[in-house]
Amino acid sequence: MPREGARIILGVGGGIAAYKSAELARLLVQRGYSVQAVMTHSATQFLTPLTLASLTHNKVITNLFAERDDSTATLSSAIEHIDVALENDLLVVAPATADLLAQFAHGLAGDFLTTMHLAFTGPVLLAPAMNTNMWNHAATQVNLKTLQQRGYHLVGPDAGDLACGMVGAGRLAEPLEIADAVTALLHQSLHQSRDLAGETILITAGPTQEAIDPVRVITNRSSGRMGYAIAEKAAARGARVILVSGPVALAPPMGVEVLRVESAEQMKNAVMANLEAASIFIGVAAVADYRPRHPADQKLKKTASRLSIELEPTTDILAEVGRQKGDRIVIGFAAETQNLAAEGKRKLELKHCDLVVANLVGLDGTGFESDENEVLLITRDAEPKAIPRAAKREIASRILDQIAPLRLSARARNA
Ligand code: C5P
Repeated sequence: MPREGARIILGVGGGIAAYKSAELARLLVQRGYSVQAVMTHSATQFLTPLTLASLTHNKVITNLFAERDDSTATLSSAIEHIDVALENDLLVVAPATADLLAQFAHGLAGDFLTTMHLAFTGPVLLAPAMNTNMWNHAATQVNLKTLQQRGYHLVGPDAGDLACGMVGAGRLAEPLEIADAVTALLHQSLHQSRDLAGETILITAGPTQEAIDPVRVITNRSSGRMGYAIAEKAAARGARVILVSGPVALAPPMGVEVLRVESAEQMKNAVMANLEAASIFIGVAAVADYRPRHPADQKLKKTASRLSIELEPTTDILAEVGRQKGDRIVIGFAAETQNLAAEGKRKLELKHCDLVVANLVGLDGTGFESDENEVLLITRDAEPKAIPRAAKREIASRILDQIAPLRLSARARNA
């Protein structure tokens, strides 16, 4: 369903496919969106601003700095990039050239489009178009991956005959397909917007480190990406989010309170100190199950021919939260190497969870240290539901989608 009145920025890069952005502009206007076209300097070599101005019934921005020429179609001001960023709901870039992908990925701000892009906080849809070799270049692919990890959406490119005479991947997606992706994305952001407002979500993420001596630790391969993705998405959906994070190399997600810890004991203490405030607990951290019983005060010397380290169990934080559950929704994770559904179900019962997100670890490209995941959602009342392989941010959204139905079934059980 198109969202009448939504405000779209149409960014146009300098590629031969720029002529197709005129058709895209027409389709977007036809759907009732107001369209602000922004062209790079090279885009204007392929398509005149006047074409887009006529189709969008709006001036077209081509310059970062105020300038006045004989056409109001190219009028802009030095702070207009902030106004445009704040006033619009979605940024679609078609064609997104290799150069624009690189500038976006590296945060460069050399013209209006790239500067405004840095100030824009809404969803971004990229429709790349370029020569196949440019598309396949390692630099382009790395830039694309960076952008996708930041939650940018992609439509196309298609494979086929290219303007350069080559055949292969790199052709701009059809304008209708891009317009449909815009509509879907608007619908998604509208539908999901602020549905977690009023909730306080306490999340654990990352590994823990258990000291052997002052320089050595026992830890695991968790990157923290799944937990951070959930925290980021929950905050974007209006929740207050407290993220208790083990040592990871990730930037704090926007709008999230991050409490950094190292050991399982510190993680447990941080969780327990904040549990009262939380209406939802999500245990994503790969908490160490055992820790050295007597960590050495000084660095151990390699004099002995054998070394045994005695381990003792840590507290199971999720199980502890499950015991003090109250009205909270409690979600746990189960990283398994086999019997996913059965193990997930067992943990659901054992730890008093409402949902267990089970995933196989040891598979190529999913689980620990990966950008993607593939999970099974296990609840008390329904059959396990598989979420096929997708970016962790996408999986995070699907997990958060479960909260409303979980509340309903908890209410039904208690009624
Ligand atoms: O039993 P297992 O460790 O496989 O359970 C995994 C789930 O339990 C995850 O949600 C993890 O965050 C949580 N957990 C915990 N504290 C522990 C061990 C696991 O919160 N000490």
